Amino acid sequence: MTQKGLGVCYYPEQWPSHMWASDAQRMVELGLTWVRIGEFAWSKIEPKPGQLEWAWLDQAIDTLANAGLKIVLGTPTATPPRWMLAKHPDMLAVDAQGRPRKFGSRRHYCFSHEGYKKECARIVGLLAERYGDHPAICAWQTDNEYGCHDTTISYSDAARDAFQRWLKNRYGTVEALNQAWGNVFWSMEYGAFDEVDLPNLTVTEPNPAHQMAFRRFSSDQVVAFNKLQVDLIRAQTDAPIIHNYMGRITDFDHFKVGQDLDIASWDSYPLGFIEDRINEDEAFKIAYFKQGHPDFQAFHHDLYRAVGRGRWWVMEQQPGPVNWAPYNPAPLPGMVRLWATEAFAHGAESVLYFRWRQAPFAQEQMHTGLYLPNDHPNIAAHEAEHVVRDLSILQTDQIQPARVALMFDYESQWGTEIQPQGQGFDYFDLVFHHYKALRRLGVNIDIVPPNAENLAAYDVIFAPGVMTLSAEQQAALRRSGAKVVLGPRTNAKTEEFAIPQALAPDIDGLPLHITNVESLRPGAYVPLANGSSFLHWFEHLEGDVTTLLTTTQGQPAIVEKHNLIYCAGWFDDASLVEFISTQLHDVEIRTELMPDGLRRRETDQHIIYMNYSAHEVTHNDQKFAPAEILFLKK
Ligand code: GAL
Repeated sequence: MTQKGLGVCYYPEQWPSHMWASDAQRMVELGLTWVRIGEFAWSKIEPKPGQLEWAWLDQAIDTLANAGLKIVLGTPTATPPRWMLAKHPDMLAVDAQGRPRKFGSRRHYCFSHEGYKKECARIVGLLAERYGDHPAICAWQTDNEYGCHDTTISYSDAARDAFQRWLKNRYGTVEALNQAWGNVFWSMEYGAFDEVDLPNLTVTEPNPAHQMAFRRFSSDQVVAFNKLQVDLIRAQTDAPIIHNYMGRITDFDHFKVGQDLDIASWDSYPLGFIEDRINEDEAFKIAYFKQGHPDFQAFHHDLYRAVGRGRWWVMEQQPGPVNWAPYNPAPLPGMVRLWATEAFAHGAESVLYFRWRQAPFAQEQMHTGLYLPNDHPNIAAHEAEHVVRDLSILQTDQIQPARVALMFDYESQWGTEIQPQGQGFDYFDLVFHHYKALRRLGVNIDIVPPNAENLAAYDVIFAPGVMTLSAEQQAALRRSGAKVVLGPRTNAKTEEFAIPQALAPDIDGLPLHITNVESLRPGAYVPLANGSSFLHWFEHLEGDVTTLLTTTQGQPAIVEKHNLIYCAGWFDDASLVEFISTQLHDVEIRTELMPDGLRRRETDQHIIYMNYSAHEVTHNDQKFAPAEILFLKK
């Protein structure tokens, strides 16, 4: 069994070497077992083209290893040094307005630039050869946060050339491409692949099929870039290879990148996220501004457990105020512990705080660490000790499959970005809406990829908004024997972004047609016969199905055929909890309604309650203080 452990991100290149040994010793004293280094150190490893300076890195690795720490070594490809630009002036990514993104921060590269990719292969190959068999390098990280700072998509010349090759490979002939995209519309037909430009700066919106192809291509470029590194590292070591993904960054298909890696990890900044990446109202944000959203971290834990095929970490964990959100408060006392322990309750193997010591210089000088810039411990160091104690409780706990699955599909996110059809309709929000309702009911949830073949573990599977469900995917859902809850917008488009010939949802075994769809402005809603309502979206359904619920006007709202349920709209929060609760009870899944802020998670050995609320909460006659965690032995 893999030993669960706590760790920290460390930048030896940012501190004088005489500090390294005492840093390493204090890490160990704190109970940390992992340290991640190296991911931004290219200018120190290779200050001039071809001039390699390994001595400092050898010494840093040996110092950390001698203290007994296990090291994650990152490849430095997210931060090409300034000299790289002199060699490859056109390696920069280009934004949708056609402007190159400059040097002076990080991630200033285009995934399609062949020259830069060769440089990456060279430095990764050298690192892997030098440290591949070092006994203390127990894991590798590729690059850093693909997609961060909007860097997946680039409108560079290199991207255009690569896109044209990708199109030729996908469609074979330009006639097939014209046919697939419907280019007869507005005389958009092409005569050759090299006439197809990138879909930016058009007069009005580009063809959605063209945009979808470009989004798929851009995602594939990330997959290929990562694989290039993985192959070189794998040739030199058996240590697991990891990438650190992010919260709500969906511009590339993480499941596809994950196929080439051993472990998934993600960077969890709960207070940055609630300010920056979550659609909730002001009252909610104020209630949780020092704790983070009670479901957002858990959603990503479950998502990345799926991306990592069971193996996942938190590579960076918020330690205190960060620097990058619109507002950066300090966590409520106890939350820095709660976030890490919650990750272990969802099956994380390791959680690493970001970062060891706050840097007094450069962009992140206002970002806290476990230690202050003056080398005194900050609050998070004490909370980390508490996590070490929690780990002694959870050390041997295992994650069993949940009975409830929720499908997540990156392409569907691109689909609603390309064609929201109503302002604010967002696939991530739709899936997260379901996740929140399930968590409110106190159940464990597994997130599953759209191409999951074996879904037999589940009694109920939710797949709202999955844009395209191929025949194989539909067959896998049928084979599961589970109750399958679809809609709104499930299988609304073909693979080439058209309305299916037979009309959506075009699901085998579900004789149902959507004749019209309506998007609804904020404040508008469709009242349903049981007093609940649909917001944002409503589909007009026709078919040979059993109607379970209608609108107050008598139009079908929820329909059923055998164990397939289709839902015609986006429920308001309370109605979704009620609807899902009925579906779970139908398949005899026990639910436990959680009060505001309290969340429940089960492992094979414990039931764990965690209080995200800033107030005391009572549940089952038990009182929970703010940020309290209760472990109940099963
Ligand atoms: C992450 C990144 C780190 C650091 C951190 C600050 O996105 O990987 O390098 O910038 O954010 O919160």
